[in-house]
Amino acid sequence: MYLDYILDGQLFLAPVGENPQKIVDLGTGFGFWALDVADQFPSARIIGTDLSPIQPRWTPPNVEFRVEDLDDEFRPWTSIYADADLMHLRFLLPTVRRPRQILQRCLENLKPGGWIEIHDLVPKIFSDDGTAGDDHPIHTLYQQIDGPFSSLYGWNIHFPANLASTLREMGFVNVSAKHNAIPIGRWHREARLREMGVFAQSLLSDWLVTMLIRHETLGLNAEEAHKLGQDILDAFNNPQIHAQHDWLDIWAQKPLP
Ligand SMILES: C[S@@+](CC[C@H](N)C(=O)[O-])C[C@H]1O[C@@H](n2cnc3c(N)ncnc32)[C@H](O)[C@@H]1O
Repeated sequence: MYLDYILDGQLFLAPVGENPQKIVDLGTGFGFWALDVADQFPSARIIGTDLSPIQPRWTPPNVEFRVEDLDDEFRPWTSIYADADLMHLRFLLPTVRRPRQILQRCLENLKPGGWIEIHDLVPKIFSDDGTAGDDHPIHTLYQQIDGPFSSLYGWNIHFPANLASTLREMGFVNVSAKHNAIPIGRWHREARLREMGVFAQSLLSDWLVTMLIRHETLGLNAEEAHKLGQDILDAFNNPQIHAQHDWLDIWAQKPLP
């Protein structure tokens, strides 16, 4: 979805130049992005880090995967990330307790002139024709996440909404943001956007099931969670609802001295 569609075949948008030496993928997940970057830049050292050791064991020689909690306020990051040309964070910041601290550590570890690039969802549904807006049932799920669930797990799903100003405030320069209006569902007339809509629907549907399974932490009983899940899926499947979601790409530079 990201690489082939939203980024149109590119791995990232930041202008890191032809010859980066160190690229870090924070919250790397299965590590696919790190592996692709390693193939594209065989002379760069690529480091992918995650809480979970779920990455493949067979990797190109220039990739290493590490397991650590990037959000641990009492344990500073090791020097392994120092002097990075690029720090990449995709779908990480809304689900950590201290996103600003992670950004601060990125700033400290980037080499002067190095880049940070962040990809995330801004949790808001909209439409061009008034068929979807604040009354879309997924907003009820977002509101439930904002309640006791977020106090328990420390999430802030709205953190990406103000990322550009947060990065500027912290001292990053040359901040660029690209807001992508991605359809949800198969309602769009253009084939490419319809395909993106099908992927977006699939991703969000999987995610909402994962969330609603923990319905007590969302302040819902099983019946309410089931109804909310069904309302959201019905809205996704309704071709009259032309819902779009904001997928944000943002990149910024550590200033040169
Ligand atoms: C939604 S996944 C995104 C994975 C990958 N960046 C991608 O876009 O495919 C978020 C990842 O962040 C990791 N993560 C969450 N909190 C973390 C933390 N405190 N330290 C390190 N990794 C963390 C999770 O284990 C998970 O693999």
